[in-house]
Amino acid sequence: MSLLTRRRLLRRAALSATAAGAARTGLAGATAATTAASTVALGGCDSPPERATDPEQDRGLRFPDGFGWGAATSAYQIEGAAKEDGRGESVWDTFSHTPGRIRNGDTGDVAADHYHRYAQDLDLMRDLGLRSYRFSVSWPRIQADGSGRPNQRGLDFYRRLVDGLHERGIAPMATLFHWDLPQALQDAGGWENRDTAERFAEYADAVFRALGDQVPVWLTVNEPKTVVQNGYIWGHHAPGFQDEDAAYLVAHHLQLAHGLAVRALRASGVTGRIGPALNLHPCYPADDTAEAAAATRLYDGYENRLYLDSIFKGAYPQDVLDDRGPDSRMVRGVRDGDLKIISSPVDLLAVQYYTPIYVTGDGSTVRKWPTSEAEWQQIYPDGMYDILTRVTRDYGRVPITITENGLPCPDVPGADGNVDDAGRVSFLRDHFAAAHRAIRDGVPLESYHVWSLLDNFEWAEGYEQRWGLVYVDYPSQRRVLKRSAHWYRDVIRRNGL
Ligand code: FCB
Repeated sequence: MSLLTRRRLLRRAALSATAAGAARTGLAGATAATTAASTVALGGCDSPPERATDPEQDRGLRFPDGFGWGAATSAYQIEGAAKEDGRGESVWDTFSHTPGRIRNGDTGDVAADHYHRYAQDLDLMRDLGLRSYRFSVSWPRIQADGSGRPNQRGLDFYRRLVDGLHERGIAPMATLFHWDLPQALQDAGGWENRDTAERFAEYADAVFRALGDQVPVWLTVNEPKTVVQNGYIWGHHAPGFQDEDAAYLVAHHLQLAHGLAVRALRASGVTGRIGPALNLHPCYPADDTAEAAAATRLYDGYENRLYLDSIFKGAYPQDVLDDRGPDSRMVRGVRDGDLKIISSPVDLLAVQYYTPIYVTGDGSTVRKWPTSEAEWQQIYPDGMYDILTRVTRDYGRVPITITENGLPCPDVPGADGNVDDAGRVSFLRDHFAAAHRAIRDGVPLESYHVWSLLDNFEWAEGYEQRWGLVYVDYPSQRRVLKRSAHWYRDVIRRNGL
């Protein structure tokens, strides 16, 4: 058994040892949810953890002129309108409607109803002073079955959104794939089928041509690693498989899809920059042993280098290939020329940072810092600094945007109707300060998107976790700016802390 398989098993065992883990691995139920609420450490929400930076010392930090302060969302998590205007089904519709998959049986059918309320949400963004807004385009809105003539009504929605952003002086940043694969393509093999990467490039081309030069930044695939791990190894995300051999073939095809989309943009003649959106995890040995160092190196290969090396160096890391083995579906699935496509030059790298990982000698992981309501998230702002400086050191001075970073909190409006998420404020302040140090030390970081603009459908956690700057009262769909939103508006106005 490979080291990776071993630690995956360990990780799964560790996760299911807690109620929160049980919920995350798809065994959600009333008992799990209740127990989780009482046992999960709410690091960063009610009691700010040990601070990596001194808030007083951070006061007065200024970011470079024109820094792109933003917020991020994704289509399935906020839009709702699941059956409107010709939208087809995605794997997430199927998955969320499968009993037992999502906490409380939640689905994205309505979500934050953004499809109908986008104009109001655009006004909120303007009120916050956002300079950049990262959203995703829903593939099944554009091609209900994942191929063929694009659906004009779907394209029109994004056109209205993009125009509305420009009218309010906010730069659009569009992600082409944030996990909502058309179900018809899944039925044909999904990302295990190489053809899906070709379909993705066709879909991307239709979007490029429709939105033309109005989108200055395009992101290809959101967090391919999460699809690989959560969707195909642990099975608690769509499509819900537990097949590690398939998972890494999927990784290759997602990388290929990325490269083909980059090429499609260049071929379309549409201007605009393009890059991948990778969730990167700084990996540290849990102790001083040589075993921990070796295990950490391989762990880093799977978490980071698999995606970064293929895009920026045109090769998959040898240690990961060796660990997969020559008979693995991934290794057998790589064809001549694929790495050339995957490493087509990009204009920028989108980094999503949430947590560090500490690896022991036997390849399992341990926690060193308080976790948030999301039990996989350890709160460690210095990890942001480490991953940003490491990327610049190892992959050159490619412009970087942070496209996700944030914290879930059990936000509830008080008697006065306000939501006092002080913990999110200190979390963001510490991470902004870490990003500032990275800029000071030479990282070409140009923008920062907080996850998320709105509370939304948090995948297997349903609506239980609230990640927004803006509170959403789901029954009424009323929006309330949380304290963090007011604070963020001031940060943007000052261009600093
Ligand atoms: C990221 C996802 C995003 C959201 C945050 C909390 O992995 O890209 O959609 O779920 O985590």
